[in-house]
Amino acid sequence: MAPTPTLTLLWRDGSEEAVRASGESTVLEAAESAAIGLPFGCRTGACGTCAGRSVEGTVQYNRPPRALKTRHSEAGYLLCCIARPLTDCQIEVGADVRAEMVSNPWK
Ligand code: FES
Repeated sequence: MAPTPTLTLLWRDGSEEAVRASGESTVLEAAESAAIGLPFGCRTGACGTCAGRSVEGTVQYNRPPRALKTRHSEAGYLLCCIARPLTDCQIEVGADVRAEMVSNPWK
């Protein structure tokens, strides 16, 4: 039987929500099944819109996270649309995470 890790979603306003993630669910799917809306675009790991940042836990990808550079992965960023929690995880989520990952050339 597939494990069902607990996924704790941390928002930058200090709130958090815990959902269960079946062994096959991505972070995004687990959140959606609990009626929690996370930002997303392509859902294929290509655009980076769904970026989160791991605080604790381990995730696995079934396809390469193309929207992440090596430095992003090393800094703990992950793609919620294709990352599957393998263990209990705490992940920072929301548009602010994506904003901090990509420098804004207009400011
Ligand atoms: S929604 Fe595009 S990388 Fe996740």
